[in-house]
Amino acid sequence: MSYVASRLAAVKPSASMAASLAARALRAQGVDVIDLGLGEPDFPTPAHITEAAFAAARAGGTLYTAAAGTPELRAAIAEKFRRENGLDYSADDVTVANGAKQIIFNALLATLEPGDEVILPAPYFVSYPEMTKLLGGVPVVVECPGETGFRLTPDLLEGAITPRTKWLFLNMPGNPSGAAYSEAELKALGEVLARHPQVQVLSDEIYEHILFDGRSFVSFGQACPDLRERSLIVNGVSKSYAMTGWRVGYAAGPAPLIKAMNVVQGQSVTSVSSISQAAALAALTGPQDHIGRFRDAFQRRRDLVVDGIGKVEGLTLLPPEGAFYAYIGCAGLIGRRTPDGTVLADDTAVATYMLHRGHVSSVAGSAYGLSPYFRITTATGDEILTEAVARIARAVAELE
Ligand SMILES: Cc1ncc(COP(=O)(O)O)c(C=O)c1O
Repeated sequence: MSYVASRLAAVKPSASMAASLAARALRAQGVDVIDLGLGEPDFPTPAHITEAAFAAARAGGTLYTAAAGTPELRAAIAEKFRRENGLDYSADDVTVANGAKQIIFNALLATLEPGDEVILPAPYFVSYPEMTKLLGGVPVVVECPGETGFRLTPDLLEGAITPRTKWLFLNMPGNPSGAAYSEAELKALGEVLARHPQVQVLSDEIYEHILFDGRSFVSFGQACPDLRERSLIVNGVSKSYAMTGWRVGYAAGPAPLIKAMNVVQGQSVTSVSSISQAAALAALTGPQDHIGRFRDAFQRRRDLVVDGIGKVEGLTLLPPEGAFYAYIGCAGLIGRRTPDGTVLADDTAVATYMLHRGHVSSVAGSAYGLSPYFRITTATGDEILTEAVARIARAVAELE
């Protein structure tokens, strides 16, 4: 007897979670490991947000809510899209789920027919292909090399579209590369999409506020208003408000799609926790000054890592334009021998070596669909990052 349904056969557990578990296991043996596997802000949730949650719970806001989210939160999200992105959505065009991840899951569950294709520019967020496979779709991976800034180009997009294409996923700034598309680049992709009416776009904008060097964010919806009826704009409070554990993500899109996603939501989890929704409402409507502070800290850490890794022979790092990761090229290490005689055959071997020799946990590029790279998160303290870069440099120096 098999306990597991066949649709799970091809689905892998989260690689970043696995990296963190491996780091924890080594730690349990007394090894001083720096865990740069999982990506979440190391700042506490701003106090006024947590206070709003307490206040809501005390005031009796502890009941089920509408599947789509409370009317107050959805109105605040519509207002956020207007204020920050110049997008005109009503509260009915908005849905709230347990993180951007569940938003994406709901969208795919609501729309994918078996064999439908989902175009994933690589490197991609690890969950995109796994959710696609789990829900009967076929991931179509388009490698977007570092040499061209890890970006999907109109030619690459045109070459990937087929009559079975249901979705194109975009993620900007991107996890793991940090690549951020300009308005002109998005418009050029939009011109290709205009010729293929069967393709919908899921734009994952969760790192919107973590953009460096003075760049300003342009939503896909803003760049390509003509594609509004085929665009789902995904965002959430996890990264911008240091609220990963509260589990609140949201999206705006065409009414029939949002309605279908709400059916999935209502018949699965009912709604997001009422208390988390109260916290998200306070996040979106309260003071926003922490956002600049977070961004400045992430940029300082980005600079620190770019500078340190740039001095390590055999490693390359294109300065990330946003988000809080460094996607480090390790082609120069492949084929080299470790002190115990193992040859580093691929980036999985490099990440394993960095963990066991350097005591730094990272995630191999193979998890993101573009090798040979490994990803470290830069969402940790400056001293820890400085030490991690020094350990990586020492581990590389020890290779034959
Ligand atoms: C690109 C991307 N989308 C979505 C998520 C998940 O966000 P949430 O916490 O809102 O589910 C992450 C988290 O790492 C991410 O990197």
